[in-house]
Amino acid sequence: MDLHLESTLTLNNGVKMPRLGLGVFNAAQGEETRSAVRTALEFGYRLIDTARVYCNERSVGRGILDSGVKREEIFVTTKLWKTDYANPREGLLRSLERLQLKYVDLLLLHWPFGDYVKAYKDLEHLQDEGLCRCIGVSNFREHHLEDLFASGILRAPQVNQTEIHPVNTEEELCGYCQARGIVVEAYSPLGGHGRTLIDDPRFIGMRDFYHKDAAQIILRWALQRGLVAIPKSVRPERIISNSKLFDFELSPGDMSTISDMNINDRRNYSPDKINERPSYLEPKIVDEP
Ligand SMILES: NC(=O)c1ccc[n+]([C@@H]2O[C@H](COP(=O)([O-])OP(=O)(O)OC[C@H]3O[C@@H](n4cnc5c(N)ncnc54)[C@H](OP(=O)(O)O)[C@@H]3O)[C@@H](O)[C@H]2O)c1
Repeated sequence: MDLHLESTLTLNNGVKMPRLGLGVFNAAQGEETRSAVRTALEFGYRLIDTARVYCNERSVGRGILDSGVKREEIFVTTKLWKTDYANPREGLLRSLERLQLKYVDLLLLHWPFGDYVKAYKDLEHLQDEGLCRCIGVSNFREHHLEDLFASGILRAPQVNQTEIHPVNTEEELCGYCQARGIVVEAYSPLGGHGRTLIDDPRFIGMRDFYHKDAAQIILRWALQRGLVAIPKSVRPERIISNSKLFDFELSPGDMSTISDMNINDRRNYSPDKINERPSYLEPKIVDEP
């Protein structure tokens, strides 16, 4: 499998999306996010994944500027929060102002909040306007996507970003999306903040065999499945090591061994219960200076 850091997937509208990106959920406002983005871009990453609710879009924009990498070489994703669903255009314009960009490469509905069908149709208009090159959804199950298809949308989403790692492999959802030309982007690919699978002893044999660490083995597994992966780190050495995935290939047997770890252990909220989340558990949005 001929993969490299510059490898892309072609989305259903012809736009090319990098296979590996940097996620910045839980990266602190200011220098932490800014320098993580700069390091990643300097080292060759070309996809950055942020969201309104991460409250660090301004720092992402500053990191992009610091890197000196040309805007058109970078694939920037942001996501609308529920408070933007009534007026996605305003939400996107505010994100663009914080990011200091004229467009994003991918705009996602962060969760199937409220009237997500109406919000998705609004994204189609924003795409027509050129404010986002691609549109998509996140945390959508098959039935949420079916709702979109049944409602007369103009175009299938380009991307569904969802939680995928070795103990939550989502094979059926991936098959559903791939059959409809929707690229699946794996979030929390290492297992998520505070719960990574890096120390799982089941990776010891593969670590020794491939001379790679567990994070590299897990990320390579995601790429070989045909997914886009967006590991988060704010530590330069990890940002760099998480991108060294292109000088080895997992055997079909090891791919199966990792996939067989699946126990449907989703760590994030259930997309089917997100609209019932009590307000005291809702993330607080605190703007950056
Ligand atoms: N759409 C959604 O609803 C949604 C939800 C969650 C996440 N996401 C996106 O997906 C991205 C990644 O997911 P995530 O942040 O939840 O989890 P993740 O990437 O699976 O794991 C991140 C955690 O792993 C640590 N880490 C990173 N590389 C490591 C390495 N080589 N060795 C050991 N530890 C390592 C990080 O710590 P350090 O930073 O200290 O290195 C951090 O604690 C997010 O940043 C966000 O962009 C989207």
